[in-house]
Amino acid sequence: MTPPRVSVHRARRRITSLAVLALVSAFLPVLSATPASAATPLRTLAAAKGKFIGFAGATSPLANEAAYRTIAQTEFNQITAENAMKWDATEPSDNSWNYSGADQIVNFAVANNQIVHGHTLVWHSQTPSWVQSLGATAMRTAMQDHITTLVGRYASNTAVQSWDVVNEVFDENGGFRSSFWYNTLGQSFIADAFRYARAADPDARLCINDYNVEGINAKSTAMYNLVQSLRAQNVPVDCVGFQAHLATQYGFPSDLQQNMARFAALGVQVRITELDIRIQTPRTAAKDTTQAQYYTNVVNACLAVTACAGITIWGFTDKYSWVPDTFPSEGFALPYDNNYAVKPAYTAINTALGGSPNNDTQAPTTPSNLASSGVTSSSVNLSWTASTDNVGVSGYDILRAPGTSGGTFAQVGTSTTASFGDTGLTASTAYRYQVRARDAAGNTSAVSNTVTVTTSGGTGDTQAPTAPTSLAAAGTTSSSTNLSWTASTDNVGVTGYDILRAPGTSGGTFAQVGTSTTTSFSNTGLTANTAYRYQVRARDAAGNVSAVSNTVTVTTTGGGTGGGCSVTATVQTQWTGGYVIQPVTVTNTGTSAITSWTVTFTLPSGHALVGQWNGVITTSGGTGTAKNAAYNGNLAPGQSTTFGFQISRPNGDSSTASGFTCTTP
Ligand code: XIL
Repeated sequence: MTPPRVSVHRARRRITSLAVLALVSAFLPVLSATPASAATPLRTLAAAKGKFIGFAGATSPLANEAAYRTIAQTEFNQITAENAMKWDATEPSDNSWNYSGADQIVNFAVANNQIVHGHTLVWHSQTPSWVQSLGATAMRTAMQDHITTLVGRYASNTAVQSWDVVNEVFDENGGFRSSFWYNTLGQSFIADAFRYARAADPDARLCINDYNVEGINAKSTAMYNLVQSLRAQNVPVDCVGFQAHLATQYGFPSDLQQNMARFAALGVQVRITELDIRIQTPRTAAKDTTQAQYYTNVVNACLAVTACAGITIWGFTDKYSWVPDTFPSEGFALPYDNNYAVKPAYTAINTALGGSPNNDTQAPTTPSNLASSGVTSSSVNLSWTASTDNVGVSGYDILRAPGTSGGTFAQVGTSTTASFGDTGLTASTAYRYQVRARDAAGNTSAVSNTVTVTTSGGTGDTQAPTAPTSLAAAGTTSSSTNLSWTASTDNVGVTGYDILRAPGTSGGTFAQVGTSTTTSFSNTGLTANTAYRYQVRARDAAGNVSAVSNTVTVTTTGGGTGGGCSVTATVQTQWTGGYVIQPVTVTNTGTSAITSWTVTFTLPSGHALVGQWNGVITTSGGTGTAKNAAYNGNLAPGQSTTFGFQISRPNGDSSTASGFTCTTP
């Protein structure tokens, strides 16, 4: 479980990493409120084994696709930027920097308790031509500047823990690749790059990374010899990355574990950095099975080598895999398909990490303390103490039998919470209730205690409830209004209220637009700039109806020129010294599309913005102002978008940002 400690400063950094992994499981219930599958998430399983499981993140779907984001944050505890931290993305021309994609990846990771592997500093590919054409002295200076600036930017960010310093420096025969780096600087560029990186972040774990080095062969042996010789010269090489872009038609490198173990014996950490396992099209069930076996083999090899820190999958959905663009007639390399459905490869990874994705047999605990309340002549409210389950409780079955004994229990409803209201009962009649829990894999618990209920007498009562009074409207927008009133009373109990509405300020007829069991009601779907009149009346358990309340007239606000918006904000996680607000959900509450929005909020004294995503946030004094990003200002009526941010605060201060309001534009 304990990764190798190759020096004092790296051992210290490792504690941070394990602390992050230990926190992971604690936050999962928040992240997976609606579990997509019965499986325990990969990150939970990997953390229990002391490993990370990560993915290569692409900036566009991360910003734009909720389904992509959900899997990214639920299943993985590590991210490598697929392209956003490469030289062409970060420093397209000399000393002209663009961190937007890199920051997006890092901010997402921070918000979701994930660690980041920086990829990649010195590579012959995706490096701008201005670098390639430099002479030796200028090229070495450019390399030093690039490493110093990029590594330095994230040196104090505890999420960013490691870097690929040099990438793909060998050819297939074990010679140095004849790249512009090697041809201009000779092999010295490699040691120089590691030394510059160590100077820029003494705590970062520094890796050499390559492909076709998974098995023991000429190329991996050349890499082994180089790492050994660099370390003998005190060049700070801490880690070796095996890309593992595998293909089923070439067979599995069966000596992967043995190969990783020989590198580990040099004192370095090893990791699988870019795992994907492509097949030749068309996809078939048999190829899926072979691919799944290969994924199993890779996970098993990493689990078997203590120095293997974890596995990064190169993407996770076939929808965004680089494979079809790079290898003609090959593809389907990843554990999720184009529609985010899991493939056999996912099941294989989950199972190899110790999960039981398809065969969870553990039933939830039995619901307890089932009790009834609010019994009327036709209804009852049930509540109970929630069950727990290893893969998550997905809901409860409500069972009912007639009378005080005998008969059979039959299911009368389901609930996803620990309460249920049963209606349509007969007056003066006994019923027995039980509940049982179901889990995400379909296992059911034993039944709870039985509760017996006798409905109140419903016949003969002719006394109507008192009329509701003080009907008032509040919070009227261009499309909705909130009504509230003073409750009615009744000898057998008020069961609910009818909400009546008429058009305009006079004339027309009142028609029922809804019911409520409380003394408030929100009426939605209204037309902007339009008047409506409302009344309410009460019903009792015997069906008697009260007189109507006073009439209230409401005029909706103008919505035609931009509409309105609302905002809700959630504190996702907090710690001494900071917190993350995510998601902040902005909803178009108007009746026409909006093209921009502005959310303001109050920051307590000493609170400072340290990270943000999916919005453009500025702070001034104690006020934060968030405007939409370029891609999420357009919202149709009723449509929502989310953004988030991270705040640092003084130690001992447990307050958070508050007073969120939304305006358009
Ligand atoms: C690939 C990306 O996946 C593509 O999106 C991009 O067009 C090219 O690079 N080895 C590496 C990765 O180290 O950076 C490469 O990523 C895949 C091969």
